Amino acid sequence: MKELNILGIESSCDETAAAVYSSKRGILSNELFSQIELQKNFGGVVPEIASRSHLEKISFIVQRALDKANLKLEDIDVFAVTTKPGLAGSLLIGLCFAKTVAWATKKKIIGVNHLEGHAFSSFLEYNVPFPHICLTASGGHTSIYLIEDFGKYQVLGQTLDDAAGEAFDKIAKFIDLPYPGGPVIEKLAKDVDFIDFFNYPRGQNDTLNFSFSGLKTAVLYDLAKRGAYDLKSRKFLKSDDLKLQQEVASSLLVCVKDIFQNKIKLALKMYPQVKAISFVGGVACNKYLKTELANLCKQKNIQFFTPSAPYCTDNAAMISFVGYYKAKQGLFDDYYLDVL
Ligand code: KG4
Ligand code: ZN
Repeated sequence: MKELNILGIESSCDETAAAVYSSKRGILSNELFSQIELQKNFGGVVPEIASRSHLEKISFIVQRALDKANLKLEDIDVFAVTTKPGLAGSLLIGLCFAKTVAWATKKKIIGVNHLEGHAFSSFLEYNVPFPHICLTASGGHTSIYLIEDFGKYQVLGQTLDDAAGEAFDKIAKFIDLPYPGGPVIEKLAKDVDFIDFFNYPRGQNDTLNFSFSGLKTAVLYDLAKRGAYDLKSRKFLKSDDLKLQQEVASSLLVCVKDIFQNKIKLALKMYPQVKAISFVGGVACNKYLKTELANLCKQKNIQFFTPSAPYCTDNAAMISFVGYYKAKQGLFDDYYLDVL
């Protein structure tokens, strides 16, 4: 069979990304412009700033992905683009760009669900056996899937409120740590050996759904009780107290680890036929969480897979990979393709 080259485009949130996947050679390039520097002063993502920045960067990033893959635009057979979920204005930049180049080169286009991208991101590096359970944890989503085949998956549980990454980001903001919170919380927790100082609530239940909003409130009230947070003015009163920041960070990370481990244990009990666990999304960059989940899987005698960091956080490689298997299945879209 002829080699298929798929160019993936991702612009659902604050990363402008493009990548090329080859059916014969795997991933050939994975380029990205992150808006973290532009957005960090706002403590989150401002949609208007995000779409303007995508518009400025997209041509350059796509060209760089082609150059790194040593290909020309005409060598691309299929354009795969994230169409949901995400910020509408941001998604539209990627989609309009993909439609334009697909139309100009008379090639096919495929819309990809960003979450399907994350759910299959482990395949960029590993051959994960089916069926398996995938835990996706990012800034916008936290879900558990049963994955039976390429494109065949069901949601077993998801967050009822905040995502895990969002909990890290928001709690980091409470204690005056920079955005995004996940990496800095990991660093502070490591400095105090991942000890559970404050025993935050794990919020046990018998489903595979998550809830992180209660944890956020529990941290806030615990800080207030310690005289470290003023609930009225919403101010952290101990921003020079590194020890307290470390203790909060460490207790939070251990708590999230327990929540994840409990859900994986429950999922394995409910679906004993699964052959592996995968852990994906931005939060899966966390080495402590990866190691602790890998240890659990070892105990349970089940394989564990997690992508390298560039494929955990938002990227276009995962979008091009989903585009690849959809192309193999003949699942193309037309130019009426829309976002959301
Ligand atoms: O997948 P991603 O890049 O974007 C979304 O689709 O949301 O995930 C970003 C999230 C942020 O909430 C960030 O705090 C979290 O991933 N994150 C981490 C780590 N690195 C990034 N969370 C915990 N530990 C990390 N090392
Ligand atoms: Zn994502």
